[in-house]
Amino acid sequence: MTTTQAWKIRPAGAADASTLAALGADMFRLTYGHATPAEEIDAHIATHYGTAIQEREIRRPGTTVLIVEAEKPIGYAIVVSGTAPPNFAGPPGLEIARFYIDRPWQGTGVAKTLMEECLQLAAKRSHSIVWLLVWEHNPRALAFYEKFGFVVAGETPFPVGQEIQRDWIMIRRLDH
Ligand SMILES: CC(C)(COP(=O)(O)OP(=O)(O)OC[C@H]1O[C@@H](n2cnc3c(N)ncnc32)[C@H](O)[C@@H]1OP(=O)(O)O)[C@@H](O)C(=O)NCCC(=O)NCCS
Repeated sequence: MTTTQAWKIRPAGAADASTLAALGADMFRLTYGHATPAEEIDAHIATHYGTAIQEREIRRPGTTVLIVEAEKPIGYAIVVSGTAPPNFAGPPGLEIARFYIDRPWQGTGVAKTLMEECLQLAAKRSHSIVWLLVWEHNPRALAFYEKFGFVVAGETPFPVGQEIQRDWIMIRRLDH
């Protein structure tokens, strides 16, 4: 667990599912809403965010959910061990399946600490890569991941409702 003056990071449990569902839906709308039709966003949220859905995610084998809390939850990351990027020939690694920091906390260093925790988890589990998908029209996230040594290794389609968008596959190699 990481503790600082104003916020802390802890593993989430099933009791956090509704909180993660609400925060996740809000962050998804924020991230994609500027260039995706509202009905496609709504369709995606209906199938990907909800208490039961997040509870299944939290309980999924190999999954760790790290929640960041100030006076209220302000972000979270989902990491999944033993998965490989699409069309990747090497051994599986650690996927960062979701990484959200709420608006007031962006640019404050919270995301940096959360990312460092994800990378430490990958090292602890002896993974040789950490990978993630990021929408091509999300320059802030791209810049953030590049700061941590992730590089674009390919692309993959990402459905949002009926719309097919393009995600970059980013990989960060780990030296043990
Ligand atoms: C992506 C996210 C986790 C990054 O955390 P953050 O605290 O905002 O990141 P930082 O401020 O440390 O780094 C972002 C970098 O992008 C830069 N940046 C901001 N807007 C940018 C833009 N439009 N184009 C290019 N770079 C941009 C910032 O200057 C900063 O770089 P710097 O530290 O060299 O100045 C956070 O913004 C977030 O949760 N966003 C909404 C959800 C999201 O997009 N999640 C990722 C889904 S894959």
